[in-house]
Amino acid sequence: MQPFLDGLRQLLGPADLLTDPADMAPYLTDWRRMFSGPALAILRPGSTEQVSAAVGLCAQHGVAIVPQGGNTGLAGGATPLGRAPQVVLSLARMTAIGTPDPIGMVIEAQAGCILQRVKEVAADCGRQLPISLAAEGSATVGGVIATNAGGVNVLRYGMARDFVLGLEVVLPDGTVVKGLKPLRKDNAGFDWKHLFIGSEGAFGIVTAAVLRLTPATRHRSVALLSVQDLPAATRLLGLFQDRIGETLSAFELISADAIRLVETQCGLGAPVSGGNWFLLVEAASSLDGLPAAVQATLEAAYEAGLLQDGTLAASEQQAQSLWALRKHVTEAESRCGKSLKHDVSLPLRRMGAFLESIQARLAGLAPAARLNIFGHLGDGNLHVNVVLGDTPLSIASRITGMVHDLVAEAGGSISAEHGLGQYRLADWQRLTPKTERDLAIDIKRAMDPKGLMNPGKAVPGTSHRQ
Ligand code: FAD
Ligand code: MLT
Ligand code: ZN
Repeated sequence: MQPFLDGLRQLLGPADLLTDPADMAPYLTDWRRMFSGPALAILRPGSTEQVSAAVGLCAQHGVAIVPQGGNTGLAGGATPLGRAPQVVLSLARMTAIGTPDPIGMVIEAQAGCILQRVKEVAADCGRQLPISLAAEGSATVGGVIATNAGGVNVLRYGMARDFVLGLEVVLPDGTVVKGLKPLRKDNAGFDWKHLFIGSEGAFGIVTAAVLRLTPATRHRSVALLSVQDLPAATRLLGLFQDRIGETLSAFELISADAIRLVETQCGLGAPVSGGNWFLLVEAASSLDGLPAAVQATLEAAYEAGLLQDGTLAASEQQAQSLWALRKHVTEAESRCGKSLKHDVSLPLRRMGAFLESIQARLAGLAPAARLNIFGHLGDGNLHVNVVLGDTPLSIASRITGMVHDLVAEAGGSISAEHGLGQYRLADWQRLTPKTERDLAIDIKRAMDPKGLMNPGKAVPGTSHRQ
């Protein structure tokens, strides 16, 4: 492998080819320290041309590539797997952001740009990029696109896929495809960029994108509410949809246990009590009259007996403190030791029975474990996470298998927004019809015949084709 590493060093310069174990360590373990794996080196290219040349060298030497952005992914997609020769290719140095076009409402950014920074640049010209996640201060444009990230505003604006107008990618042989057109409409042939969105680096490397912006909203109303049970939460969602639906931008569910975790682990306090479930509701508009409409909706909810308690933020500062409770759930959970993430979506009408079954089965399987349930109820997507406590890690796959079986029985998805990564791939294979599995493998074979792009993540290897 020495000629290979020498070639990379010549290409990238010694500072951007990391081979020292201490320098490599942060790139070889995920944010939650659930996954880790070895690599020959970490590559930190600074341009699309360097990505292309580095990928070409890897193809020539049969070395696999694990693309990595902010390393905030929750499915082990950016962590090397297995012992085959592989490198991590970090996009962190590719951070250029183009001047936004406020009339055409687009912005171009390189893959390594931090999401929050792109949002700030868009906001400076009176537009917004409403992809919002608690990890936005570290997650990158490339990672967000590669995972088709969701977040708290999907209810109104859609997932990352809905914001990608143009894409530049490097294919597994090093070819650069420049598709950076800022067009909202383009039906000239099939829309190949969707192959790369949400495929977790299994088909190529995203190096830049043109993203759609939306008009900024001038007013927002944020409320924290508590309800007794899930049927009350879903009825409340219906009420908001009926009365102020087009302004509703977040409808997030947080269990009372999750709120308690945030209070004890992160030192925040919820100004609302009562009820088994909390809801963080946000509405936004540029038109005057939003606060009155939200207030009237809340009064109707009280009259209908749906609410136990609630507060409507009276200032932007209060709105941010309410949001902080929701945004700290993942952090609070991680402070409780190992946990298993279950990122499920299912029809809302099945959610209640599904959660009851999980509670009952978990009590039998792992009495020391605790459920941490929260997520994007408005999208039918909940994070049904299991904090393991003293539960042995050896039964982790049984717990996850049990949850995923129940998701499949309810006609849901085992990954609503985080992707399969290495974590969910085996269960996806187990629960997905053969025709769909074979289709994924055939596309992988066509795109990446040598199987060098992020092996073991998102798509099964070609040996699994039956
Ligand atoms: P990484 O973690 O580096 O990589 C993720 C995957 O994308 C890997 O498979 C990697 O190989 C691939 N990849 C990365 N960059 C590229 C590229 N340029 N080209 C090709 N492939 C690439 N996710 C949600 O969907 N919704 C949420 O609400 C949400 N909240 C979160 C909250 C917290 C506190 C944390 C820690 C994570 C959260 N996530 C959420 C998960 C994560 O932030 C997202 O998946 C994010 O999109 C990952 O971006 P990243 O740059 O960190 O990617
Ligand atoms: C979130 O919605 O905050 C994350 O996607 C969930 C998680 O940490 O499981
Ligand atoms: Zn989420």
